Amino acid sequence: MNKTYNVVNGPQNVPAIVQGCMRMPDLSAEAAAKVIRTDYDLGINFYDHATCYGENGAAETRFGEAFPLTGLKREDVFIQSKCGLCFDRNEFDWSYDNIISSVDDSLRRLKTDYLDSLLLHRPDVIFDPEEVASAFDKLEKEGKVRYFGVSNLVPMQIELLKKYVKQPLVFNQVQLSLEQSQLIDQALYMNNKTTDMSCNRDGNALDYCRLHDITIQAWSPLQHGMFKGNFVDNPDFPKLNETLGKIAEREGVSKTAIAIAWILRHPAKIQAIIGTMNPEHIKDAYSAVNVTLSHHDWYELYLSAGKFLP
Ligand SMILES: NC(=O)c1ccc[n+]([C@@H]2O[C@H](COP(=O)([O-])OP(=O)(O)OC[C@H]3O[C@@H](n4cnc5c(N)ncnc54)[C@H](OP(=O)(O)O)[C@@H]3O)[C@@H](O)[C@H]2O)c1
Repeated sequence: MNKTYNVVNGPQNVPAIVQGCMRMPDLSAEAAAKVIRTDYDLGINFYDHATCYGENGAAETRFGEAFPLTGLKREDVFIQSKCGLCFDRNEFDWSYDNIISSVDDSLRRLKTDYLDSLLLHRPDVIFDPEEVASAFDKLEKEGKVRYFGVSNLVPMQIELLKKYVKQPLVFNQVQLSLEQSQLIDQALYMNNKTTDMSCNRDGNALDYCRLHDITIQAWSPLQHGMFKGNFVDNPDFPKLNETLGKIAEREGVSKTAIAIAWILRHPAKIQAIIGTMNPEHIKDAYSAVNVTLSHHDWYELYLSAGKFLP
């Protein structure tokens, strides 16, 4: 089964599960081609990149080398990249020059002449929205980028951008997993003084994005903490794994698939960006699209991840 979404003012029929390419730099071109083709044959024709994945954009370079080995055509796939996160210079940079040169570098590495979407990766807190608007206009006019979006942005930063940028911002890529569920927690706990899960750390980004037709893309759907590792089959999360295992057995899929199905069950039509580079794990993760969790399953999993009903 395929599970796809139509993004308002954006691309149609995008898959609910996206292949993240952050972990692609270590692969050979042949192994990367196998990942891309495995994805595509399952129904994952959407690939997420960033200029900072691997030294000197190594993930994009590897993808560009691998893609011709897959037998696919450029128009068969949706290629997204992100710019603005400059670890090499220890800064975030949304200046006109950096946006333009980053896209040109991505296109060269990916061996393509357009990106399907470009996201601003993390907020450059001294950004000038007029510079971003000029850069987006140029990239759109030259046919180098089809759709635009953001990543890790709070609603007021999006509002500020929207005052100047004329293209619709159609994606906001943010961290969300059963263990890292702040996007959801704050609304549930509201002003509850007994837990810091009530802290509003993102300005209600989830509800804002739903109100403004911005599709959320959930990064690291299986990780706990900030890249601390997978919570599935991790003894530090016994209750969560017990519930994942129970529902997985009932549905005839893996615990990983249930963890991803938990994200897909949210009515906001969230895309889950998986990071595995193992073709068997990709198939395993993709089986999440065949599972529709019940309302009760969703809460049971959420509570098993260490939350409580206030
Ligand atoms: N916008 C942002 O700021 C931001 C930040 C981080 C990431 N991202 C995006 O999100 C994507 C996903 O991030 P992530 O790699 O942390 O995601 P993830 O899917 O939560 O984690 C993937 C990791 O889990 C491991 N894993 C172990 N068993 C697995 C199984 N059965 N099935 C699937 N995975 C298994 C994978 O290893 P194996 O390869 O051995 O399977 C891999 O190391 C990135 O590629 C990137 O595109 C965006």
